[in-house]
Amino acid sequence: MWDFPIFPKQASTVAWSVDALTWFILAYNVLITAGVFVCLIFCAIFFRQKRKGEVGSQTHGGLLLELTWAVIPTIICLITFWWGVKVYAELQVPPADATDVYVVGRQWMWKTQYPTGHKEINTLHVPLGKPVKLTITSEDVLHSFWIPAFRVKSDAVPGRYTTLWFEATVPGEHKLFCTEYCGTEHSRMIGKVVVLEEAEYQKWLSEQAEFGDALQGRKLFTKLQCVTCHAGESQAKAPLLEELYMKKIPLAFDKGSPVAPGTSVLADENYLRESIRYPSAKIVAGWQHPSIMPAYDESLVSEDDLFQVIAYIKSLRRGQTPPRIEVTTQPRALGAPQGK
Ligand code: CUA
Repeated sequence: MWDFPIFPKQASTVAWSVDALTWFILAYNVLITAGVFVCLIFCAIFFRQKRKGEVGSQTHGGLLLELTWAVIPTIICLITFWWGVKVYAELQVPPADATDVYVVGRQWMWKTQYPTGHKEINTLHVPLGKPVKLTITSEDVLHSFWIPAFRVKSDAVPGRYTTLWFEATVPGEHKLFCTEYCGTEHSRMIGKVVVLEEAEYQKWLSEQAEFGDALQGRKLFTKLQCVTCHAGESQAKAPLLEELYMKKIPLAFDKGSPVAPGTSVLADENYLRESIRYPSAKIVAGWQHPSIMPAYDESLVSEDDLFQVIAYIKSLRRGQTPPRIEVTTQPRALGAPQGK
């Protein structure tokens, strides 16, 4: 199964722009290399020693020549830079309506997680002709997520989220790789992207769906006892999390805090993640420093679970924080007295 084409098929909307830039750089490199060799061969023949004992004359200066070889490469570099920035920006900024898929890398597999809450290993299902945004992290070491046919690649970095996006244009299966050496079985960290027509994709999603990520996250929110403090009551010990996502959060400043007075931070996924893993890193203005919240490290919340908790926080609207004590009926079989 030797299947590593130098120029893989173009299967996403950005593939063409990446290829065009690559071809442009390749073309002028070939042209310049060829030019150097033509000059070299020409000079070797034309200026060779024709008679025994002949000494060549020395020439100094040549303003026009020097300007030519300074200005032309500068122009080429500037064009490459401008073009590169344009393609990079296109690759970096996902459209607002992109579907979210979460990806966790670990030795040695890719785990994917959909908004519907279900998970896959080494497989990524995406709809055809719809933008998809991947939020990527790693549970152990550096990995790098790469779909050659889409011309997209992003490092999977432990302790932070990176993103990439694409819109698939060719239905069927495409390969995905880990492209950063990550240990013994790095070369086997291979998977596939399955591009389905929109209707098929929706059908597939509904077949796979159990509960939404946010719904699973709500359960964890109660289970991990987040709700005990983030309760939204007057005597609550922690800030309310409703409608928090993508808000500007003013940070607390005192002697111990590492931020400058008046700093605020955007409550994006990375901020939410940091606040769960390292609660004292950035404290919201008006709350106690250092934080009284325990640090939820990997032993308490896995990367998979963390995605769900964050999905839940993102989905929280005004008045939706669950009640502190959820009313449950105790099973009679346990024989415990009721209502105590
Ligand atoms: Cu993971 Cu290489």
